Amino acid sequence: MVKLTGLKKIKTAVFISGTGSNLKNLIKFSKIKNSPMSIDLIFSNTSKAKGLRFSNQFNIKKYISSFKDPKITEAKILNLLNREAIKFICLAGFMKILSKNFIKKFNGKIINIHPSLLPKYKGLDTHKKAIQNKDEVAGCTVHYVTAKLDSGKVILQKEVKISKKDNPTSLAKKVLRQEHKLYPAAIKKIFN
Ligand code: GRF
Repeated sequence: MVKLTGLKKIKTAVFISGTGSNLKNLIKFSKIKNSPMSIDLIFSNTSKAKGLRFSNQFNIKKYISSFKDPKITEAKILNLLNREAIKFICLAGFMKILSKNFIKKFNGKIINIHPSLLPKYKGLDTHKKAIQNKDEVAGCTVHYVTAKLDSGKVILQKEVKISKKDNPTSLAKKVLRQEHKLYPAAIKKIFN
């Protein structure tokens, strides 16, 4: 894993596709004096991602490119990451699947947050599945990204109790509150 050298913060890119509440939370975390990371680039595969507004708000470079031709898009992203000396990538609600080749180039330096207790419920609709299966707990996981979807080594997990009144929306809200604590904690665990 990447180790911090001296007092320099590790230059990080965050990849998003939507609201960006995890992105906002990671930006706040990055501003703390003892945070191991700085966020220097936001990438989105769509200009519609609400989270892109944090680029202006916090004066962080952004790059948008659709994944219509994934090979070309990934080559462009890799170029940019190189140019900006980015050493670490956090996926935060990023809805595209990165290629094996891309992941290999950033081997062990891409992490993701997923709204379930992996290996349970990989992919989409995690909260709906947990409720349908009458699970008593749901949760979230921060894990390394490998070529196999939602299957890399777990860094940290947090359980969230499911109440009888919960529906997928209320559960998603509860889990998201925990995600905002878990993601910074996982990053601290990696670098400190
Ligand atoms: C989060 O629940 C995250 O775990 C999942 O997508 C959602 C993104 O939320 N991968 P936000 O865009 O960070 O608000």
